[in-house]
Amino acid sequence: MQEDVRPLITDRALEVQRAYMRSVRKANYRPQSYYIVTLGCQMNVRDSETLAGMLEEMGYQRAASREQADLILYNTCCVRENAENRALGNVIWLKELKKLKPRLLICVGGCMMQEKGMAETLKRQYPFIDLIFGTHNLHRFPELLFRVIHEEKQVCEVLDSEGGVAEGLPVRRTSPHMAFINIMYGCNNFCSYCIVPYVRGRERSREPQRILEEARQLRDAGVQEIMLLGQNVNSYGGGGDAFARLLTELDKVGIPRIRFMTSHPKDLSDQLIDCFGRLEHLTGQLHLPVQSGSNRILELMNRHYTREKYLGLVEKLRQVRPDVGLTSDIIVGFPGETQADFQDTLSLVEQARFDAAFTFIFSPRAGTKAASMADDTPMEEKTRRIQRLIDLQQSLTQQALESQVGSRQQVLVEAVSTRDEGCVCGKTQRGHMVNFPGNTSLIGSFAEVDILCAGRNTLRGQLCQN
Ligand code: SAH
Ligand code: SF4
Ligand code: F3S
Repeated sequence: MQEDVRPLITDRALEVQRAYMRSVRKANYRPQSYYIVTLGCQMNVRDSETLAGMLEEMGYQRAASREQADLILYNTCCVRENAENRALGNVIWLKELKKLKPRLLICVGGCMMQEKGMAETLKRQYPFIDLIFGTHNLHRFPELLFRVIHEEKQVCEVLDSEGGVAEGLPVRRTSPHMAFINIMYGCNNFCSYCIVPYVRGRERSREPQRILEEARQLRDAGVQEIMLLGQNVNSYGGGGDAFARLLTELDKVGIPRIRFMTSHPKDLSDQLIDCFGRLEHLTGQLHLPVQSGSNRILELMNRHYTREKYLGLVEKLRQVRPDVGLTSDIIVGFPGETQADFQDTLSLVEQARFDAAFTFIFSPRAGTKAASMADDTPMEEKTRRIQRLIDLQQSLTQQALESQVGSRQQVLVEAVSTRDEGCVCGKTQRGHMVNFPGNTSLIGSFAEVDILCAGRNTLRGQLCQN
């Protein structure tokens, strides 16, 4: 067993929750429906799948809209201020809905509830919320819901400590073809701007055997692509080559596509880079957040790498896999960022040639180190900077997409295209979205597509004729 593999939440504790699921199922005298709104990253999406699984086990059915549901659950995010504002705006809207539907149950969970003092504030200010819970006690949701139903009063439970890993909870997956697999929870990195370590707790990894078992079940159910999730997958199992070993084992399971996120550049090992040249099913796409191109800012961010080290990793990856598609996250306007620092970010972006980048204006998060750093850059200047960065990335994205024109790609068809009638869409192994004429029977399978032209963010193609 690896050193940071945490004790499991005991079978007994989970059996108690299963008993509550049965009790809630019995207590509801007519079929009930639920609607979950998920804010935030894939971690929350995966948590919502577990919450949906538990609700279905308790006899709830998925409602087509919020208005139709008997129970609405908000899974919140607090990584930036606007994520929080969205959550609060939504919750306030629910107050009106509850006036029309007094029996409506409103539940609020997720990262924002783990923020210091937040759950208490919500509890006081919004008495119409029936249940408030956090990320550390997700597995206790059935018991908490049971109490809401039976005690007919507001229930609020948020735990300070993360505890163990819960295995075997029910899950209602969003897609039958693509699946998220959590491999670890939490983060130990404490980047100075980031609230995630405070709300998700310390790193804890699942045992490799459990992950492999889950992958085999998904393969047998016809899943074509898995996405391994962790805040920093490189430190899976305590770091070193544990993640590369896990990937090597997962590759043998035979699911056609494996992706993962997120990797921290500071511990992207040579063994992991090697995997991109060696493993048959690992796709040629890597999300490698750089955050800034300035060494001074990287240090203030507590990222533990330099721009040179980062660009070196990019080069190594391209040597091993020349067509690798890199994506990144970048923060603009970190406290004290000068014009020169920002120029360093622009030049790094030019050199790294990302396929795409998510760009954010720094948002101070209470309790983090960066929130108390002096910040004298006016918001107008930050807005100008982010626009320049977005423009630069847009032109690089365009170049990356154009480089695909004329090629033949395997596309895993995901859905009917929302924009083009008669078209379906799906991703190439490098992660580019392709629209092409086709019908719904293709969804969930691989299609060979000739790429004809590039749009702003997507490709257009046609089914290969020969
Ligand atoms: N664990 C992942 C994702 C963290 S959150 C990682 O390490 O990359 C996703 C992104 O949000 C981060 O990469 C960062 O770019 C951005 N982010 C986090 N905190 C932020 C803040 N306070 N202000 C602005 N952007 C932030
Ligand atoms: Fe936040 Fe850094 Fe951890 Fe990512 S690695 S979750 S940015 S603290
Ligand atoms: Fe947000 Fe929590 Fe993810 S804070 S970004 S949902 S880990």
